[in-house]
Amino acid sequence: MAFCDLHSHVLAGIDDGAPDLTTGLAILGALGALGFSEVCATPHQKAGQYLPTTEAIDAAWAQLTAAHTRDLPALHRAAENMWDDVFFERSQRDAIPSYRGGPAFLFELRPTTMPVGMIEHLFRLQTAGKVCVMAHPERYEALQDDDLAERLSRTCAFVVDLPAVAGYHGKRECKQARRMLERGLVRAAASDAHNVGDVKQAAEGLAWIEKKLGAAALTRLCDTGPRAILAGEMPD
Ligand SMILES: [Fe+2]
Repeated sequence: MAFCDLHSHVLAGIDDGAPDLTTGLAILGALGALGFSEVCATPHQKAGQYLPTTEAIDAAWAQLTAAHTRDLPALHRAAENMWDDVFFERSQRDAIPSYRGGPAFLFELRPTTMPVGMIEHLFRLQTAGKVCVMAHPERYEALQDDDLAERLSRTCAFVVDLPAVAGYHGKRECKQARRMLERGLVRAAASDAHNVGDVKQAAEGLAWIEKKLGAAALTRLCDTGPRAILAGEMPD
């Protein structure tokens, strides 16, 4: 079994992830040691905070891949899009930064408020052939509502953070992540690694999934599910 990580901040110096190339390589090495053969770099796209240009992302990716050795996981380009005005404008002109430039894209929300009209907008994007992928659904307070979580999980692929599953992102987040996993609402689990310490926490999340949900669930959440999303498909 080889895992695929849909969410990480390994590119050097462009957001709050790896500050330099050495750290980026160390994170990739740690993910490789955990069993990941593919890793998606998902730098933040967040107005007013981190909005690296495509050129800056490409340059950081080229720098990391040039320093890359064969034993490290393959590295793909993507983004973590905050649901803000920049995202909305990009979605109107079909220009959301996505997984390998394909139909699947990762987005995040602010934890306390669901944007007005979000479900309808997601539905429109889905109808237009996009695969909407929600980062860390365990963070969003509104998704403590089981019915809303279930409804949304049909419109977008939930990707929980493995450190949250292990309990490192707070008690409520841990409970919410585990409940979503146990209810079968989650399509993938990812590291969201900003540093090597996050990868150690992710290892505990993987162990929890294997112990509580079984080996087949681990394969679905960390191998076949994320690979389907990377290929632009909504996993079963
Ligand atoms: Fe992230």
